[in-house]
Amino acid sequence: MASTRFTLSPAIDLPLPIKVSTASLQSAPLFSFRPLNSPPFRYTWKRNVAAASVSGSNAVSEQVVDTTQDAQATISRPSSSKLVLVVGGTGGVGQLVVASLLDRNIRARLLLRNPEKATTLFGEQDEEKLQVRLGDTRNPKDLDPSIFEGVTHVICCTGTTAFPSRRWDGDNTPERVDWDGVRNLVSALPSSLKRIVLVSSVGVTKFNELPWSIMNLFGVLKYKKMGEDFVRNSGLPYTIIRPGRLTDGPYTSYDLNTLLKATAGERRAVVIDQGDKLVGEVSRLVVAEACIQALDINFTEGQIYEINSVEGEGPGNDTRKWEELFKAAEKPLPL
Ligand SMILES: NC(=O)c1ccc[n+]([C@@H]2O[C@H](COP(=O)([O-])OP(=O)(O)OC[C@H]3O[C@@H](n4cnc5c(N)ncnc54)[C@H](OP(=O)(O)O)[C@@H]3O)[C@@H](O)[C@H]2O)c1
Repeated sequence: MASTRFTLSPAIDLPLPIKVSTASLQSAPLFSFRPLNSPPFRYTWKRNVAAASVSGSNAVSEQVVDTTQDAQATISRPSSSKLVLVVGGTGGVGQLVVASLLDRNIRARLLLRNPEKATTLFGEQDEEKLQVRLGDTRNPKDLDPSIFEGVTHVICCTGTTAFPSRRWDGDNTPERVDWDGVRNLVSALPSSLKRIVLVSSVGVTKFNELPWSIMNLFGVLKYKKMGEDFVRNSGLPYTIIRPGRLTDGPYTSYDLNTLLKATAGERRAVVIDQGDKLVGEVSRLVVAEACIQALDINFTEGQIYEINSVEGEGPGNDTRKWEELFKAAEKPLPL
């Protein structure tokens, strides 16, 4: 029953050919920091139009030879065959997911209501590494098939406030975002998808019980559970991550380099469980890392995990340690 704890040690960029003493890296950021003060990268966003640059995605990074970019740009060319669609990529968890994908040289595509936010946060990026599409998940017509062309994985971190706020303006309520939006997104995804990771919440199975019923006064937990169930019944390979109360971020005034320096402070230890019993807090940095790790850990497919972070050292971006954490949490029949 006991959840296994690992601590989030400072991140080390992979592959790492040398041994690094973690003692010397105690104050290092979760993501390794590589200055992106590079060259004349082009960064554009598109409305829902087919993008020739994203087709045949698996081989693109090796085939492209761009003589206009200098050596540093060549080094930062995408090295992974993944193309990860991040939905809600400018939100608190989403911005850290995107920053980490960029840092790992994994290609990302963002689906955003406001593409300018991506420019503010992530600056000038090569379209090969970061693409932006305009869309609102509440509107099925926005979810044109071209958005999903070449996409291998999806991380969905959309959300709004649990209680009425300005973020509900224009009817962007939990019902519309966590239920209609997730349902629309999942319905539009191609069956070839390798994984969708949905960020949900602890407490979704107990929305009628105190104290969860208070949080659920406007339905946020109920609608998140409906979204989860739609994902589970979609036939797509999925992983659901249910965070506790989120800490660290959103980093509203950060740019990419500053985002990459964000740390989970003392709370780097990770607690993962199943069965919706976990109560507590979790750093958004830890949630972002869990989403990215789940993409590559096969046995997390079809699983639902609750996640917290507490004081102590953590798994950083060590996939073996994340495997142990996810494995130790597994229960026969998660709710
Ligand atoms: N806050 C907590 O303590 C807590 C606890 C447990 C779980 N969660 C859940 O964890 C997830 C991540 O939370 P967070 O606080 O990091 O998120 P956040 O900062 O609220 O970001 C939400 C993202 O969703 C996008 N979004 C909202 N409505 C959209 C729509 N109709 N179409 C497309 N995109 C839309 C937002 O973009 P715009 O800029 O366009 O609005 C934003 O990028 C959310 O699902 C949240 O409910 C939160």
